[in-house]
Order: sequence, then C-alpha cells, then structure tokens
Amino acid sequence: MTIIFMIIFMLNTFQQEYARERKKMVEDQIIKRGISDRNVINAMLTVPRHLFVPEYMKSRAYDDSPLEIGEGQTISQPYIVAYMTEKLRLKPSDKVLEIGTGSGYQAAVLAEICDSVFSVEIIPELALTAEVNLEKAGIENVHVKCADGYFGWPEHAPYDAIIITAAPEKVPEPLLEQLAPGGRLIIPVGHRSYTQFLMLYEKKEKKISSRTLLPVRFVPFTREKDQLH
Ligand SMILES: C[S@@+](CC[C@H](N)C(=O)[O-])C[C@H]1O[C@@H](n2cnc3c(N)ncnc32)[C@H](O)[C@@H]1O
Repeated sequence: MTIIFMIIFMLNTFQQEYARERKKMVEDQIIKRGISDRNVINAMLTVPRHLFVPEYMKSRAYDDSPLEIGEGQTISQPYIVAYMTEKLRLKPSDKVLEIGTGSGYQAAVLAEICDSVFSVEIIPELALTAEVNLEKAGIENVHVKCADGYFGWPEHAPYDAIIITAAPEKVPEPLLEQLAPGGRLIIPVGHRSYTQFLMLYEKKEKKISSRTLLPVRFVPFTREKDQLH
C-alpha cells in the first residue's frame, strides 16, 4: 500500500513539474514573442508536450527548440507550433487537415481549439506512435491516416484550414483544392539546402491569394517511391 501511495505521490509531483515548465514555456516563448490568440495560448498551456516526445527527450520537452522524435523526424519548436496555429485563425466549429502528423503534438494543439482534425503521416511507425501519444493525452477528435499527404484526405474535404509541417518545393495542388471557400492554408515551401519560407494561402470563393510570412527550416516533404518521377 505504501509503495502505491509513493508512486501516486511521485506521479503527481512529475505532473506538477511539467505543468510549471509548460506555463514558463508559454510565458517566455509564446506570449513574449507576440502570440496573442487566447485559444492558442490556452491550447499550448493544456497539451502535455512531454507525452509527445520519446522517453529520452522528456527532460527537454519544453525547451525552446525542435526535438528528435525518431525516423529522422522532429517535433517543431513550440513557438512555430503556436505561430502557425494562430495564423490559421481557427474557430471552434472548424475542421482541419494536417499533413505531417509526426508525434501528434501539433494535431493535439489544433484539436484543443477546433471541432476535428484529420492528420496524414507518411511514415507508418510515426503514425502509430502519434495515435498512442494522442490516446495517452486523452484526445479523441484527431483522426490519423498513414499515407502520402500530397493527396490530402479527400473523403473529408473541404477543410476550413490546412497545415503542412514538412517542406515541399511547391504547394501540392490537391491540398489547395481541398480548402473550403474562406479557408486558410499554411505551409513551409522551399528546397532543403536553401531558405524555406512559411506561406499563408487564403481561398476567397475560387480565388487564392498568398502571403510570405517567415524564413523557416522544416524537414523535407517526402513522396511515396512510385510517385517520384
Ligand atoms: C516536422 S515533422 C512534423 C511535426 C508534427 N507536426 C508534430 O507535431 O510532431 C514533419 C512530418 O511530416 C512527415 N511527412 C513528410 N512528407 C510527408 C508526406 N508526403 N505526407 C505525409 N507526411 C509527410 C514526416 O514524416 C514528419 O513526420
């Protein structure tokens, strides 16, 4: 019995410590750098980022940097997650498509704010881990599929917002097609060895406008072998 109480006590202490680190992350890395959307701030305060990184990275979960998640991929820096989410101007009723599930963390942040998230990951091991991470975090409105995200997820289109978290050399046409009128799409675009830029696309009726936001560095958008020509 005493051992059980000690384990519960230690788990509570860890949870409190992670909550403290999360609050500090939000104050120092998110609010001080200009993120002001209350929904984004609350989501970043709520989602337990340490549940989305491998065991050996847990002590660095709230660091001001991207972190390895295995398979040569990364979970983005907290500020970039918040920045991209804010630029999507999400509403609670929104349906969002994410390409590049990775750890599932960005999807979890989106899911705190909107109705549902459909997320596509090309690496099967990561898609599976993301599902486990999301379950551990108690998040039920994210749907994960393992596929080449170039084609989006047409069965659930159109989407109010689309976020791509790996960098292609140009925006995949099917993703722009799956954006609803009035929808926003955010994507890093560029070659891996040169500067990439975060771009924001907006669809007004059938017209699409675009704006360059920030220089960034994302992992490359990869394609299934049979699609590479
Ligand atoms: C920077 S990581 C994503 C970070 C993730 N959003 C998170 O919160 O952990 C980029 C992800 O995009 C995935 N990816 C790259 N090309 C893809 C494609 N064509 N379709 C789907 N996922 C892709 C990578 O495997 C990787 O997991």
